[in-house]
Amino acid sequence: MAKEMFKIDVKAQKADAAKIKTDVLAIGVFSDVKNSVILDVLDKKLGGAITRLKKIGDFKAALGSSAFVYTNGKIAAERVLLIGFGEQKKATMDTFRQTAAKAAFEAVNVKAKKLAVLLHYEEKDANFEKLGQIITEAIHFGGYRYNEFMTQKTDEKITSLSAVIIKDNQSVVNKISKGVFAGQIIGQAQNFARTLCNRPGSVLYPAELAAIAKKISAATKGLSCTIFDDKKLAAKKMGGILGVGQGSVHKPRMIIIKYSPRNAKNKEPIALVGKAITFDTGGISLKPAADMHEMKYDMTGGAAVLMTMQTIAKLKLPVAVYGIICAAENRPDGGSYLPGDILTTYSGKTVEVLNTDAEGRLVLSDGLEQAKVLKCKTAIDLATLTGACVVALGKHKAGLFSNDDKLAEKIKSAAKETSEPVWPLPYEQVYIDEMKGTISDLKNIASRWGGSCTGAAFIGEFAKGMAWAHLDIAPVSDTSDPMKKYVQPGSIGFGVRLLTEFLRNIK
Ligand code: BES
Ligand code: ZN
Ligand code: ZN
Repeated sequence: MAKEMFKIDVKAQKADAAKIKTDVLAIGVFSDVKNSVILDVLDKKLGGAITRLKKIGDFKAALGSSAFVYTNGKIAAERVLLIGFGEQKKATMDTFRQTAAKAAFEAVNVKAKKLAVLLHYEEKDANFEKLGQIITEAIHFGGYRYNEFMTQKTDEKITSLSAVIIKDNQSVVNKISKGVFAGQIIGQAQNFARTLCNRPGSVLYPAELAAIAKKISAATKGLSCTIFDDKKLAAKKMGGILGVGQGSVHKPRMIIIKYSPRNAKNKEPIALVGKAITFDTGGISLKPAADMHEMKYDMTGGAAVLMTMQTIAKLKLPVAVYGIICAAENRPDGGSYLPGDILTTYSGKTVEVLNTDAEGRLVLSDGLEQAKVLKCKTAIDLATLTGACVVALGKHKAGLFSNDDKLAEKIKSAAKETSEPVWPLPYEQVYIDEMKGTISDLKNIASRWGGSCTGAAFIGEFAKGMAWAHLDIAPVSDTSDPMKKYVQPGSIGFGVRLLTEFLRNIK
């Protein structure tokens, strides 16, 4: 595999927009606000090119629109990239996130190595630290390209993007810089989560994910990592994850990452439990061929948990957390688990497998039991669990299920802050009842109705005694959304921002 990775770096700096040497100078423009002083100065230097572009109607500053203006040496930047902010009264922090991502996306499209993002409005009362973090995360998000299997020569292939956020005021730049620091850590982590998910199933299998988790943990102060291989899983009687993984030559792993700083504010550790099916063929209950390749993203929850552990250690958050990643490959084979098999999970509960494609809940049952063994009183699991959740919510939001209203509220607010949207769905007895077994304690599927609710209900049976929330992230595991014109199709690394924010808010 090609080792070369695409690197993105962001800084904040006091600079004069006309003098900064850069490949692309990105400038956000509101559709209903007159030009800022700085924009007017630039327009004059460019011989009125910006005004002209607006006049002929090529750029109306609608949200998500953009246009290049070539500067022909009139200012130091090669190109000006106008980015539409839409109407000022409708603007939120998310407007800045989307448009900064768009700026980076377009900059990389023209193979820019340097990008300057200009803040030029009088953003009175703005939280500049937060703005710095959001813009930085967004530059990482939009600038990201998965290209490790591209074979072009290096001079044709983009290898780095160096971005600066510029403002004409040093004390504001200092505030932005604080946010840039966090944004870099979170943005890089999220992008590596994307890379892990974008890697083909045959390249990134459970043992490989475990090796990467070990390496990341060793390189990050404050993290320690324990791996349960298949022998250890068998010794511990983790029948859920073992059952799912037994049909593959790539044996399952449970990856446990510990972060427990001395100044932790929570007495009982919080568990983040991630589904990491490195490839989900469906097993003997084989999936249809169309789109099956997308099941390399079935490890999105595990990747988010791994990379969140890295961010919280790098940010030195005062919170004790276990990351538990349930990694297995679901594959048909002479040794696969069969429909009708009854598995004994780590908890001791037995499960009749009526569909081998409902495997996420089986690996998570052992992960949640492990959280209890580690004395966690709060657990959040992330799983690309059901196609039904995609049907319910479209590819816009993750489903949120919980047995604890306070926990759900905290997750909702972190989701809102980070623009990783979630939507509440029911966790109730009627769904739990549907999962009761006839010849075993539980069965792994119910009727075809409400599939995401019954899936969540199943998992909830293994979270009793903990405040628990389940995020069904199947809707947001990847994007091919034509609405999102600022992101490369593929994994979007959902969950890293949300979980990091949730943990930052622990008091
Ligand atoms: N990994 C899939 C769910 C999925 C589907 C994620 C589409 C992302 C996009 C999961 O393991 C699965 O196959 N679930 C089944 C459950 C069913 C058999 C009850 C499903 O959704 O069809
Ligand atoms: Zn499946
Ligand atoms: Zn799956």
